[in-house]
Amino acid sequence: MTPRPSSRLPRTTREAHTTMADRDATPLDDPVGASLRGRHAHLARRLGAAVTYQAEVATFSSVPAEPDERAWADLARLLGPGQLADLFSSPASPPPDWEPVFALDGRQLIWDGGDRVPAAPGDVTELGADDVPHMLDLVARTRPGPFWARTREMGAYLGVFDGGRLVAMAGERLRPPGWTEISAVCTAPEARGRGHAGRLVGALVSRIVARGERPFLHVAEANTGAIALYERLGFRTRRTVTFRGFRTP
Ligand SMILES: CC(C)(COP(=O)(O)OP(=O)(O)OC[C@H]1O[C@@H](n2cnc3c(N)ncnc32)[C@H](O)[C@@H]1OP(=O)(O)O)[C@@H](O)C(=O)NCCC(=O)NCCS
Repeated sequence: MTPRPSSRLPRTTREAHTTMADRDATPLDDPVGASLRGRHAHLARRLGAAVTYQAEVATFSSVPAEPDERAWADLARLLGPGQLADLFSSPASPPPDWEPVFALDGRQLIWDGGDRVPAAPGDVTELGADDVPHMLDLVARTRPGPFWARTREMGAYLGVFDGGRLVAMAGERLRPPGWTEISAVCTAPEARGRGHAGRLVGALVSRIVARGERPFLHVAEANTGAIALYERLGFRTRRTVTFRGFRTP
């Protein structure tokens, strides 16, 4: 990637930023549903009112904001019996015969850095299909959150290599209208504290803002190190979320 000085925004980015403060945040109330019914429709599987991602892309599912019995039945049929329904993004709770599998406190942060759009660093590489085994290996070692063999198809993924080995990465995941989520932020334990994650998130912020969109992300409440990093980069908390999964009946 070509390095770009950060202090002065290019004209198009400055114009994009002018509208950013007013950006409608409603799609962030159900970013999974807003992505699957919009820019990720090509990665979706649908049945009636229920929608989920294709296998190996993501496990997230969505039903309408006030789902009736039929919507839950559609989602159960879409996923199949005894399958994981990852419903962190949905404000509604499934019927009692859906067994809770996990629930973890987290928060949603939105980028609020104003003119502080980071420079695109020179040592960051765009990751392609050939890099997926290395990405899966890094995720297994660092556990940044859900990431599967086809998650890369949700957006652009960037990485840092050291001696031919992928040591850090971050990428774009959910894409509700006007917004792009930054996800899979991780650095190999032996490469931490060198600013890799900061530069990768900064590079993604820079790209997203240049498109006239606004970055957001999700993080577990207990991940205080990552929250500190994101706040330092210009993110602020918009709301709390619960990462929760249920098993279909
Ligand atoms: C969070 C993580 C990506 C940071 O990677 P990194 O490349 O070491 O981060 P950077 O070097 O860019 O930044 C480190 C900064 O972040 C903060 N930070 C990162 N990890 C921290 C930790 N474990 N405890 C406290 N602060 C931490 C500090 O503020 C530190 O600031 P400093 O630069 O003044 O020292 C890395 O620890 C990781 O892979 N963790 C496991 C996966 C994960 O939780 N990902 C986030 C999912 S939302």
